[in-house]
Formats: sequence, C-alpha cells, structure tokens
Amino acid sequence: MGKTISVAIDGPAAAGKSTVAKIIAEHFSYVYIDTGAMYRALTLAAIKNKANLEEEKEVADILAKIEIELLPAEKGQLVLLNGEDVTDDIRKDEVTNNVSIVAKHGKVREEMVIRQRHLAANGGVVMDGRDIGTHVLPNAQLKIFLKASVDERAKRRHEENVSKGFPSDLEKLKSEIASRDKLDSEREIAPLKKAKDAIEIDTTSFSILEVVEKIKQLMEERL
Ligand code: CDP
Ligand code: CDP
Repeated sequence: MGKTISVAIDGPAAAGKSTVAKIIAEHFSYVYIDTGAMYRALTLAAIKNKANLEEEKEVADILAKIEIELLPAEKGQLVLLNGEDVTDDIRKDEVTNNVSIVAKHGKVREEMVIRQRHLAANGGVVMDGRDIGTHVLPNAQLKIFLKASVDERAKRRHEENVSKGFPSDLEKLKSEIASRDKLDSEREIAPLKKAKDAIEIDTTSFSILEVVEKIKQLMEERL
C-alpha cells in the first residue's frame, strides 16, 4: 500500500458519521473503527453485570475484564464482546439511553483511548466518535466534524428504524438525541467538540454521497 493517512470523524448522534466512515474506509481499503460501538459494548456488559453505571470504579473494573473486538463484515462491522456477537444488542434503547453515563467516566475514557490508539497504530484508519480529533488522534491528517440539525438527525434515525421494521417515535427520538448530545457536550472529560483544525460539514441538506465525495476529495488532497 502507498501512503496512508488517519482520518478522524466526529460529531453528534446520527449526523451520518458511521455511514460515511464505512464507505470511505472501504473505498481506500482502510480500517474502519467505530469507537461508539466500544462504549456501547461496555454499556451492555455493565448492564448485564447489574453495575451501578454512575459508579466510575464499578464500570472501569468491568472494562478491565472484557475484550471488545471490531471485525470488518459485509454490512460494516461486527462487534464481539468476549467473543459473543453483540452487533445488534448494542443498538437497543437500553444501551443507547445509558451509554453517555458510562462514557463520562475518566477511568473508562483513559482505557478506551489506549485501546483505540492501539487499533490505529498502523495508520490507514477512519475512526469515528466524539473525541477522535481532539483527543484520540490529535495528529490525524484529516479531521472532519459532521453536524446536522436535530430535526434532520431524528428524522434520519426514524427512517432507518422504520426501514428495518423497528418501532419508532420521531418526537421521542428527537428528545433522546438532544439529551445525549447535551450529556456528551457538557461532560468534563473529552467532551464532544470540534477540533480547532477540523473541517466542519453541515450535512442537513446533503445526501450521503455528497458528503462522501467531499471527504474523498479532502483525502486525495492529503495523499
Ligand atoms: O451512532 P450514534 O451517534 O448514536 O452513537 P455512537 O457513535 O454509537 O456513540 C454512542 C455514545 O458513545 C455517544 O453518545 C457517547 O456518549 C459515547 N462516545 C464517546 O463518548 N466517545 C466516542 N469517541 C464515541 C462515542
Ligand atoms: O454514526 P452516526 O450516528 O453519526 O450516524 P449514522 O448512523 O451514520 O447515520 C444515521 C442515518 O442517517 C443513517 O440511516 C444514514 O443512512 C442517514 N444519513 C442520511 O440520510 N444522510 C446523510 N447525509 C447521512 C446519513
């Protein structure tokens, strides 16, 4: 492989990060790393262990004992928790509505960042999350901050749920997304924030392909 770069994609919930990151990674034969899936897998493990999610030490102790693997799969990425496929389970409401509590703990974030940097050590990665450009990969050659209005983001998640045949309530989604964004943006450690050198793309009126094209172009400029 020729020159490779590291790409950081951050932004609020349902801005299109993972959809776009997967397509870009596939196009350039890069590794796609969904860091949100790691926080979700830990949340699932903590719920299963009946941990008090507000207790930093309880949650950090669980993280120390679990293995989280992200494997490339045909439709994106397979997530394994101690070898068990939890790809679908980590998207359930119980996890989604608790993940920001688990993700606010400093000890949890420290360990996650170690694991994430390890996964990115060889370059050629597209990593998406909330603190990739600001903390995990501060030297990434391309940093993107994707945003869209909360109405548009709730609508996208709603349409995604309906297309999969899942029950979905647009107003409820909107308030859940807004409250998760608030927790993620206001936490003390590594909050959701645009890195100074990130390129912001407001995707409210853009299609997935338009966003992909824009990022591909920015990557080509750096390669
Ligand atoms: O896909 P969606 O935007 O709904 O969320 P996600 O990327 O799967 O992330 C789930 C949650 O994990 C976020 O709401 C954050 O609380 C946390 N997270 C984080 O704190 N830092 C990251 N780098 C990635 C996710
Ligand atoms: O990873 P993140 O939570 O930021 O968002 P996502 O799961 O990639 O995208 C949420 C939904 O919005 C997906 O169903 C995408 O297909 C859709 N989407 C869209 O309709 N238009 C875009 N420009 C980007 C994403």
